[in-house]
Amino acid sequence: MLYPELFAQLEKARWNMADDIPWEQFDADLLTDEQAETIKMNAITEWAALPATEMFLRDNRDDSDFSAFMSIWFYEEQKHALVLMEYLRRFRPELVPSEEELHAVRFEFDPAPPLETLMLHFCGEVRLTQWYRCASEWHTEPVIKHIYSTLSRDEARHGGAYLKYMKQAIDRFGNEARLAFAKIGMLMAASARSSKPLHPTNLHVNESLFPNDTVQSRLPKPEWLEDWLTNKIRFDQDWESRVVGGILRNLSSLFGQTFESVQQLNRYRKSLVNS
Ligand SMILES: [Fe+2]
Ligand SMILES: [Fe+2]
Repeated sequence: MLYPELFAQLEKARWNMADDIPWEQFDADLLTDEQAETIKMNAITEWAALPATEMFLRDNRDDSDFSAFMSIWFYEEQKHALVLMEYLRRFRPELVPSEEELHAVRFEFDPAPPLETLMLHFCGEVRLTQWYRCASEWHTEPVIKHIYSTLSRDEARHGGAYLKYMKQAIDRFGNEARLAFAKIGMLMAASARSSKPLHPTNLHVNESLFPNDTVQSRLPKPEWLEDWLTNKIRFDQDWESRVVGGILRNLSSLFGQTFESVQQLNRYRKSLVNS
């Protein structure tokens, strides 16, 4: 069971909404309308942990340890949505998402292989860690800068927790797990060369609702994420290479191999298929 040690670890690192965010340092002159609008969209995106949790619990009925860990992950992700909303409530109340806007991202995700979902979320956390670091640098207002760097560290810890479950899956399922992780790792690391940023909230997850079956498509401004990455925080090649590097490094240690490029990972994936 990993849940007890993860609980202790994550509880030690936990921050407090009232005391650990320097609300009193808010400087209205340093927040633009454009910046504030992105915070609203980001808050709704974080709220999508709700349908993701419903999917995790449904698809992991035979894994009570992992399901118990979901209580921590779900709590922390909802808190991410909440701290962004609290910022807006205090300083831009007209931008607080409505309950309807939040509820719009709660929809059924199609069942998927649990090992692939696990890897998808691991990569999602690695990516978010960097997105939020970059967002913290882009923002100029001190309180929101602080919030984004706090969230970035949480996402990094979530990635670490998922990685422990991935290690355990390799011990239990061997190549079946390696293959699932290599396959999704390829998909997520190759995102630099595709036009759309690959993150769980940007993938199609319900065939019957297509094309409105990504979390992003159900936001008040479905195009915000690409605009935020390209024109706002400017998540460029340098940042992207940190994401890809993070994924490759972790898969290298997980598999006991050295992957310096996506191509090397692909070769390894093919060798698993043929083995
Ligand atoms: Fe989050
Ligand atoms: Fe996270």
